[in-house]
Amino acid sequence: MNAQHPDGADQDGTDEERLDIIDPLRHLRMVNGQENTGTEDLASSELLAVLPDQKYSIHNKTLQLTYLQEQNNDSSEAISVTLTVDASPGCGGVVWPAGQILSSYLVLKGHAYLKGKNVLELGSGTGLVGLVAAKLGAKSVWITDQKPLLDIMQQNVSINQLNSSCIVAELDWGTAVSASIPRPDIILAADCVYFEPAFPLLVQTLSDLVGDNTDVLFCYKKRRKADRRFFAMLKKKFTWTQVEDDPNRMIYNREAITLIRLSKLS
Ligand SMILES: C[S@@+](CC[C@H](N)C(=O)[O-])C[C@H]1O[C@@H](n2cnc3c(N)ncnc32)[C@H](O)[C@@H]1O
Repeated sequence: MNAQHPDGADQDGTDEERLDIIDPLRHLRMVNGQENTGTEDLASSELLAVLPDQKYSIHNKTLQLTYLQEQNNDSSEAISVTLTVDASPGCGGVVWPAGQILSSYLVLKGHAYLKGKNVLELGSGTGLVGLVAAKLGAKSVWITDQKPLLDIMQQNVSINQLNSSCIVAELDWGTAVSASIPRPDIILAADCVYFEPAFPLLVQTLSDLVGDNTDVLFCYKKRRKADRRFFAMLKKKFTWTQVEDDPNRMIYNREAITLIRLSKLS
C-alpha cells in the first residue's frame, strides 16, 4: 500500500515529481516503456513508430518521411520531407511522435487548408511540421525554436529546397516576438509540454501571438502529472477542443497523444 501524504499525494507520486524536478527531460527518454540513458540514444525510428501507415527510412542521421495524401479522384500524392536529425543540440534535434502526428494531420487537411496562409511553428526542433506546411502550399512558414536548434532547422529548410517560403527564426518562449514575424494565420506546436519552468513562458508566447482568427493546432503527449499544471495555466487564457476529424486519432490517443485546437478567451 502507498504511504499517504497530508496533501493526499501518494509516496510514489511525490517521488515522481521530485525526480522530475531533478531531471525534467527524463520522460522524454521513455521509449516503449523503457527509460533510455540519454536523448543521444533515441533513434528517431523508435519515436516514429506510432502511425502504422507512415513511411520512413533513416541512414546516417538523415531521415526521409513520406506521407500519402489522398486526392479526390482516388489517387494519392506523396509529400516527402528529408531531415537531418542530430540529438546533440538538444531534444529538438530528433523527430517526436507529436510532430509526426501533427504533420500527418496537415497532410490530411491538404493544400486547401494551408494555401496562402502565414504559418508559425513553435518549438519546431528539426522543422518537420513547418516544412510539411510549406510543402502543402503555405505562403510563409516561420520555423522557430531556441538558438541551438537554428542550424539544424536551416539545414533542413535547404535540403528540402524551401528557402523561398520558410524562414528560420529564434523564438524563445516568454520573450517578445520579433516585429519581423508577421501575425500568423496558423500556429503549430508539437510536443512542447515537458519542462515545467517553460509552462508559463509557452502560455505567454501563445497569448502574444494568437488573435481572434488564428487557428492553433497543438499536439501533445501526456507524460506526467505536472502536465496538468500547464493546462491549468493555459485555461486562464484559452479554451480548447479535441480535433475529431483525424482518422488516426484512436491510434495516437492510445499513446497518450492528443491533438487539440486552442481559442483565446475574449
Ligand atoms: C520535445 S521537442 C519537440 C520538437 C518538435 N516539435 C517535434 O515534435 O519533433 C521540444 C522542442 O521545444 C523547444 N523548446 C523548449 N523550450 C523552449 C523555449 N523556452 N523556447 C522555445 N523553444 C523551446 C525545444 O528546443 C525542442 O525543439
